[in-house]
Amino acid sequence: MSLSLIPGQKLIAATHNPGKAVEIAALLEGRFEIVAAGSLGLPEPEETETTFVGNAILKARHAAMRAGMVALADDSGLSIAALNGDPGVYSARWAGPAKDFVRAAEVIWHKLDTARAAQGEAFTTTAWFTCALAVAWPEGHACVFEGRIDGQIVKPRGNRGFGYDPVFQPEGYDVTFAEMDPDAKDSISHRRRAFAQLKAALLA
Ligand code: IMP
Repeated sequence: MSLSLIPGQKLIAATHNPGKAVEIAALLEGRFEIVAAGSLGLPEPEETETTFVGNAILKARHAAMRAGMVALADDSGLSIAALNGDPGVYSARWAGPAKDFVRAAEVIWHKLDTARAAQGEAFTTTAWFTCALAVAWPEGHACVFEGRIDGQIVKPRGNRGFGYDPVFQPEGYDVTFAEMDPDAKDSISHRRRAFAQLKAALLA
């Protein structure tokens, strides 16, 4: 069994979000034929693991075994040091079914104010985004790559991007992800870093 990916090969994007499948195709520079698991009618597994890596592998394996093809899955989110790594793998759930990230930012700041009072001098606003990217073969083998970008939680600024972008200011910048040009964000993002590792390891 070859553990490299061959340009032109069909890959399952283990997602039911068509936008994510398009994004994965673009990050792989159009070198693969990407088919979304949702469009094949494959069931969506429950994300029962407690780490980004665990959930990415679970989703990729689930799709690869059912489709009989190589599958790729990502799992990403925001971790905040003062909140013991929360929201972490529960990042999407913190915004609720309405995907209300204004509310999620308010919850973050409410919890940070409590943490600041409890932690005193040890308190920091350190945070990081993680993207775990797993590739699984139908026989069960899987590889996983992790990209991370470090920064700080700030009061929400900017209206570009999505999700937690307005509250995240990457290290070395004085703007948030939501204030940055989207290309500038993409060039340093956790997702870009995970894909760079995948390409270096698996692309012929
Ligand atoms: P998932 O990996 O698509 O399940 O996304 C996990 C959660 O993390 C979602 O709520 C996203 O909004 C959030 N998230 C992941 N990456 C980013 C990012 O680059 N900016 C803002 N939020 C993100």
